[in-house]
Parts: sequence; structure tokens; C-alpha cells
Amino acid sequence: MSIKAAITAIEGYVPEYKLTNEELSTMVETNDEWITSRTGIKERRILKGEGLASSDMAAEAAKKLFEKTGVNPDEIDLIICATATPDMLFPSTACVIADKVGVKNAFAYDIMAACSGFLYSVATASKFIESGQYKKVLVFGADKMSSIVDYTDRRTCVIFGDGAGVVLLEPNEDGYGIQDHILKSDGSGRHALNMKAGGSAKPASHETVDAKEHYIYQDGQTVFKFAVRGMADVSAEILERNNLTGDDVAWLVPHQANKRIIDATARRMGLSEDKVMLNIQRYGNTTNGTIPLCLWEWEDKLKKGDNVILAAFGGGFTWGAIWVKWAYDGKQ
Ligand code: UT7
Repeated sequence: MSIKAAITAIEGYVPEYKLTNEELSTMVETNDEWITSRTGIKERRILKGEGLASSDMAAEAAKKLFEKTGVNPDEIDLIICATATPDMLFPSTACVIADKVGVKNAFAYDIMAACSGFLYSVATASKFIESGQYKKVLVFGADKMSSIVDYTDRRTCVIFGDGAGVVLLEPNEDGYGIQDHILKSDGSGRHALNMKAGGSAKPASHETVDAKEHYIYQDGQTVFKFAVRGMADVSAEILERNNLTGDDVAWLVPHQANKRIIDATARRMGLSEDKVMLNIQRYGNTTNGTIPLCLWEWEDKLKKGDNVILAAFGGGFTWGAIWVKWAYDGKQ
């Protein structure tokens, strides 16, 4: 049988500090009722502490993964970090994580695909494993969204939170692991969700800071319309082209941007609510962290052979879905 890339371990890390809807109501003109009914979010975690960055949360997750699996950092061949909030524009956050956790024999780089970055990274990593050349790959989804959120803008500050997750991918010759993926992008959507300044188009200046252009800009309704259609379409497509129905699916692991988008995707796939991983109420939208944080929290419910669909939509626009045949019993 050909080599497939199987997820063989998961870990996650969320910071201690809980920013509740109640606390946000004291910062901007909002309330728990609006946030809950429009997004499903109740609280989100915020990384506090001078100098702490996306890599620090990722490193915490990786340390726990090494401890739990007994894998030695020296055995890791490749690190891919999906992030929209890299520690710096360069070097890559993946290189920083490697240094912080003592990974010395790996090549390391970041993938930027906004909220779809974790899916793009898992798909990319799976190809390195399938080539037979690489045996142990770590894929991170890590974002300190609070570093680019304007806490005077009620349209965006209620949505995002901080967190990081990591999966270990290894070769599997028994048919388990990543079975199929569909990844898409449409750059004409870049105007609806972006950070305007700080890149080569508009380098940082006093003017860009004064104009608050180093914060997330989102045209929520436009993104919502594309996200509902994009995530549902691609999730339905990956089932259809693999002759699967909702009954064959054990779990949908959706990007946690808005509960209404998740519900629409589950309906389109013919899935009942109990098959949908949902932690948006506790963590908000952690961008690249959402999917690995769900897998981490649900690990002990995952069983060998489960059909798991990962799905996301994000800035770019980027979107996609991955079908995974789960490789191990989580409750061990
Ligand atoms: O993860 C990456 C991809 N991102 C997404 O998928 C996000 C997609 N978009 C969304 O999830 C939703 O568009 C939001 C949650 C961002 C916003 O929800 P909405 O139902 O689209 O609200 P809206 O932007 O249409 O605003 C409705 C009203 C407006 O007031 P008026 O103009 O009707 O008087 C807003 O000013 O709600 C107001 N509003 C708020 N009110 C209380 C906006 N934000 C808030 C707030 N609290 N935090």
C-alpha cells in the first residue's frame, strides 16, 4: 500500500487570560446578547506578557507533544507554521519555534493563508511524508490575534482570540491518514479582509499608525457571504468526489469564525450537531489555531478509522477541506 501521512499526535495551548463578553462590553459599545447571537462567542483567551508572541504559544504546545509522545526533538525533519501573526516578518516563526524547543535537524518555514493556513500546511506536509523522504513533520497553527486587533473597533475586537495547536504527521502504510484535500483561493477577495500596512505595499510610518492600518480590517458581511458558500461547497465537494455521505463522517472539524457559518456547513453535509467540533464559545476565532485546538480538545473521542473532515475559509480569500481517516484511538 502507498504511504499516507497520518496525524499521530496533537497538542494545544491557550493562554490563561479570559476576555469575556462582559469585559468587552466595558471597552466598546457591545453586549453579550449581540456577540452570542451573531457569532456564538462567549469568551476568548488573550496572551498577556511583554514580548510574548505566537511562537511562545506554539512552543508550549510542542513541549507537551514531545513529553506525551516521547518523540525526541532531534527526530523532527520539518516544521511548518501556519500563522497570520508571525513573531516578525522574517525570519519565519517556524524557525523561532524550532529554536525554542530544541529542534535542530529540521528545515522550517511558515505558510500564510490566513484562516486556511493550517489546512494548506497539513496538505503541504502530507506531500513531504508521502514522498517517503521525511518521517516526522510538525504542523503548527499559531496566532496571537490580540497583537493586530483594535480594541476600540467593536466590529472586529469581539471575534478574535489567541491560541496555538500542533499535530505530528508520520508515514502510515495501512491506509490511514490524509486521504484527499481540496484547497482554493480567490485573491479578488483581498479587499474584504486584510491588514493594510506593514508590508511592502505600505511600509510602517507615522501615518499608517495614526490611520490604524496595522490592525485587522474586515468587511464582515462580504466575508460572511463568501465564507458560508465557500466552506459549505468545498465540504460537500470532498464528500461527493469520494462517494461519502454525512452518515460516513464521524466528525466535522470546522474553522471557528462564526457559529452560523459552521451550522450552514454541517447542514449542507447532512451532519447532526453532535458530529461537529465546536469551541468558538470559549476561544473565539484563533485564526490558524482553531482546527488543531478542536482536534486537541476532542482527541480522546477520536477513534481509529473515523472519517474526519477539516474545513476552513479565510482571508485571501482562501478556503478548503481535507478528508482524514483517523489513525489511532485517542483514548489511550
Ligand atoms: O475567519 C476569517 C473569516 N471571517 C469570517 O468568516 C467572518 C465573517 N463575518 C461574520 O462572522 C459577521 O459578518 C460578523 C460577526 C463579523 C458581523 O456580524 P453581522 O451579522 O454581519 O453584523 P453586521 O456587520 O452586519 O452589523 C450589524 C449591526 C450594525 O449596526 P447597524 O449598522 O445595523 O446599526 C453594526 O454596527 O451590528 C452592529 N455591530 C455591533 N453591535 C454590537 C457590529 N459589531 C457589533 C458589536 N456589538 N460588537
